[in-house]
Amino acid sequence: MTDLPAFIRGLPKAELHLHIEGSLEPELMFALAARNGVAIPYGSVEEVRAAYSFSRLQDFLDIYYAGADVLRTAADFRDLALAYFARVAADGVVHAEIMFDPQTHTARGVPFGTVIEGLLSAMAEAEAKHGISSALIMCFLRHLSEEDAFATLRAAEPWLPRIAAVGLDSSELGHPPAKFARVFAEARRRGLRLVAHAGEEGPPEYVREALDLLGVDRLDHGNRSLEDPGLVARLARTGMTLTVCPLSNLKLCVVDDMADHPIDRMLREGLRATVNSDDPAYFGGYVADNYLAAAEARGLDRRDLAALARNSFLGSFLPDEAVAAHLARLDAYLAAA
Ligand code: ADE
Ligand code: ZN
Repeated sequence: MTDLPAFIRGLPKAELHLHIEGSLEPELMFALAARNGVAIPYGSVEEVRAAYSFSRLQDFLDIYYAGADVLRTAADFRDLALAYFARVAADGVVHAEIMFDPQTHTARGVPFGTVIEGLLSAMAEAEAKHGISSALIMCFLRHLSEEDAFATLRAAEPWLPRIAAVGLDSSELGHPPAKFARVFAEARRRGLRLVAHAGEEGPPEYVREALDLLGVDRLDHGNRSLEDPGLVARLARTGMTLTVCPLSNLKLCVVDDMADHPIDRMLREGLRATVNSDDPAYFGGYVADNYLAAAEARGLDRRDLAALARNSFLGSFLPDEAVAAHLARLDAYLAAA
C-alpha cells in the first residue's frame, strides 16, 4: 500500500478555492519585479517569506495586495497561472476553478483584458500540457463599493462567456453579503454561477445572507456556520458545498491549532466539505499539503480523503457528464490503491 502523501497526491481532485494572485511565489515576485522595473519592499526571498506571519485576515490582505503590484502584463498573468498549473499537476489536480480579483489590477491601471487574456492563455496551455481543465471565478472586492462591483461586471462584458462565476472576497467583517445583493442578482441574470466567502471571520449571519440574499451556489470557507446548528442542518439538507482551506485557516488564525480544525466534524455532520489551498504561496502549501495537514491533525482515513475528493467534483461547476467521468476515474484509483 502506498504511503499517505503518495495516496493523496494520486487522488484525482478538483481545486475549487484558489486565488491566482495568492499563488505568487516570492521567487516569481522577484523575477516579475525585475522584468517590469517595479520596486518591492524586500531584499530577498527569505525576507518575503519571513513577512508572512498573520494574526488575522487583514494582515494577510495588506501584504497580498502589495505583492500583486508586480503583475503588469498579460505575460505576467500567464506565467503566474502556468506556475500554479505546473505545481498542482503533481498534486493530482485534474480540474481547477480559479478566482481572480480584477479590481486589484484595474485600480493600478492594468486593463481587465490584460489580466483575463493572460489567464485564459495559461488555462489553454494547462489543458494541452497537463490535461487540467479549468474555469474562472471573477471576485468582487467586498471592501469596495457596490458601484465599483457593477463597474467591474461591465468591464467583464466582452469576456462573460469565458467566466463561470462571480465571487466575493477580501475583508469580510463590516462588509456583509447584503451589500452586493443587487450586483449578484445582475450576475445571475447574465447566466453566471455565484460563490461568496462567508463565515471565515464573519458570523453565521453572513452565511445566511450569502444563501438568502445572494443565492450562492457554493460557499467559500463557511467555518463559522458550525456555531449555528440550524444553519448546519440547512447546509447539509441542501447539499451546499463548502470550500474549506485548512492551512489558510491556521495561518489566518481562524483556528488556533490544526488539531482544532473542524474538517472531520464537517464531514460527520453531513456537510459537503472540500479541501483547497486558498493562497498557497502565502499559507505554506498547495492542495495536497492541505489534505495531508488535515489528515494528520484530525486522523482522517483514506475513506474520508476520498470523500473530500469526491465532493470536489460534485461541488464543481463542471457539466454532469464530466463530473461522472471524474468520479469514475476516482473510483478506479481507489479500487487500485
Ligand atoms: N482573498 C484572498 N484570500 C482571501 C481569503 N482567505 N479571504 C478573503 N479574501 C481573500
Ligand atoms: Zn479565499
